Amino acid sequence: MNAAPLRIGILGITGRMGQLLAQAVPLAGAILAGGIGRSGDLAALAAACDVVIDFTTAGAVRGHAAVLAAAGTGWVLGTTGLSDDDERLVNLAASRVAVFTATNFSPGVNLVLALAERLGASLAPDTHDAEILEMHHRQKIDAPSGTAISLGHAVARGRGVDFASVRQSGRDGNTGPRETGAIGIASLRGGQIVGSHSALFTSATEQITLTHHALDRRIFADGAVQAALWLAGKPPGRYGMRDLLGF
Ligand SMILES: NC(=O)c1ccc[n+]([C@@H]2O[C@H](COP(=O)([O-])OP(=O)(O)OC[C@H]3O[C@@H](n4cnc5c(N)ncnc54)[C@H](OP(=O)(O)O)[C@@H]3O)[C@@H](O)[C@H]2O)c1
Repeated sequence: MNAAPLRIGILGITGRMGQLLAQAVPLAGAILAGGIGRSGDLAALAAACDVVIDFTTAGAVRGHAAVLAAAGTGWVLGTTGLSDDDERLVNLAASRVAVFTATNFSPGVNLVLALAERLGASLAPDTHDAEILEMHHRQKIDAPSGTAISLGHAVARGRGVDFASVRQSGRDGNTGPRETGAIGIASLRGGQIVGSHSALFTSATEQITLTHHALDRRIFADGAVQAALWLAGKPPGRYGMRDLLGF
């Protein structure tokens, strides 16, 4: 006998991502059990779903974590710009329900993250300066993007250091010479660019650049729905794209 289709709810259904998710859920064979924007009955929606997909705003994480953990509803979280406190609340929820987080649901970007870690491990900080550059549409409210921060963590992981201890955010004014071992991160905004990310490794004699351009937000919506299908029935814990993709 076939299992019943997964019931998926969407938090942020009125948004750019939410609208695409509403199309992607039924196409993947799941049931769109409902959705809410900024206002709406989260507890009622959580009770009617197996998993919710959340693309909202960092300010909503606290409330979502509490309600979803209490309801026992799986949580696929794509919202970016989370603070350390938000991350703690996500981890707390993950002790009670299955939570899947990704700063980017594109399989291609996650391959770039793996390659960035590999290059970070191979290209020594005293020969190759590592810099992260991202560009997004003019409506984006957080900077740098979650994906750019993930790229910084990937390079730092490859180098065996903590990203926070070597991160150099933006440059403006009399900055002095570049510090050896720093990982720079910078943001550009304009037009309707869906998301472009580069990791650059520059020595005195060469430059190696890894670049990913997202051309359509559907890549994120499809990835998030695949994550929801994968998460169904998993025990409490925090999962991510490496679990889903196997790299
Ligand atoms: N992980 C990824 O792959 C990925 C990809 C793309 C985007 N994102 C992230 O996803 C998030 C949403 O992006 P978007 O472009 O879809 O944004 P958007 O178009 O501005 O939509 C935001 C949605 O969140 C809702 N919302 C706003 N404030 C809220 C609150 N306090 N509580 C609950 N809901 C609230 C809005 O509802 P109202 O309409 O009622 O205001 C709307 O439905 C951002 O953090 C973005 O960086 C992640």
